Amino acid sequence: MPTITNTRDDTRFLCEPGDTVLRAALRAGIGMPYSCNTGSCGNCRFDLVEGEVSHLRDDPPGLSEKDRAKNRWLGCQAVPGGDCQVKFRTMDQYVPPVTPARRGAELQSVEPITRDISEFAFRVDGAGAFSPGQYALLTVPGVEGARAYSMSNLAGDTWRFMIKRAPGGAATGWLFDAAPGATLEIDGPFGTAFLREDSDRDIVLLAGGSGLSPMVSIALGAVAAGLHDNRKIHLFYGCRETADLCTPDVLGPAQGKVGFTAALSDPEDGADWEGPTGFLHDVVRDQMGEALKDCDLYFAGPAVMSAAVQQMAHEAGMPMDRLFFDEFY
Ligand code: FES
Repeated sequence: MPTITNTRDDTRFLCEPGDTVLRAALRAGIGMPYSCNTGSCGNCRFDLVEGEVSHLRDDPPGLSEKDRAKNRWLGCQAVPGGDCQVKFRTMDQYVPPVTPARRGAELQSVEPITRDISEFAFRVDGAGAFSPGQYALLTVPGVEGARAYSMSNLAGDTWRFMIKRAPGGAATGWLFDAAPGATLEIDGPFGTAFLREDSDRDIVLLAGGSGLSPMVSIALGAVAAGLHDNRKIHLFYGCRETADLCTPDVLGPAQGKVGFTAALSDPEDGADWEGPTGFLHDVVRDQMGEALKDCDLYFAGPAVMSAAVQQMAHEAGMPMDRLFFDEFY
């Protein structure tokens, strides 16, 4: 099994066959910076000092030509060919709250949430812990590369995921065609946008599309921890048309304890809709007003929504350390 040495602080960790440098570091409790785990964000770059690695994805968007010229690689994509010396900065905020592990999983049920989002329940081998808001990497049989999906429930022997069908997507095609009993591998948990129970601020959850999944998990976790007794918690859900809507039922046992607002960005002609319309970040800004900057803001959704929310939060005067999100798109 290859040994990876981080020459920046002389720490060493083992990398299981086929594992990536990032996942091996996190399994060893090392705070290697990352976000998407799928080669997009570039947060996990490291310098290769000695040895050989290869990337899972041929041309990951998180790595620039300049990075390649400097012999930089992506931790989430790099699989070592033997012992390696690498160099990267570690940060405490990336030390995993729960050690990620690979597990077999069996599909138990599929429940439709909207016209193209369903909730998939998988029974995992060995009860697995995760923090509300985290995600896992699902390796679907016959589909190259793992996909990142956030859990929608609380930790236990069943992990649920609200997943949106991607038109022409191989992984979601398999999932939406799968019958109970189908099996795959789940690796996780990962992600840093998990519920911070020790804060005393009100909580605003902002979900676009299948970003609903981690926001529901956080709402459930907050209520299970009794945070709703002395903190306001509100979930804003944004989608395009009425067929994309979900109801507050999606909150399960958190319903009634967590506020819920849905907004449509582009309702169809003649839509029977009296709720807010417009982009979700505008709706949240207008409805929260001055109170927003004193809240903890968790959000998940498409890249364009994430960028708009960050801009809105910045303009609202929110300090960055009150924003919690993972960049996996
Ligand atoms: Fe590796 Fe995003 S590119 S974590």
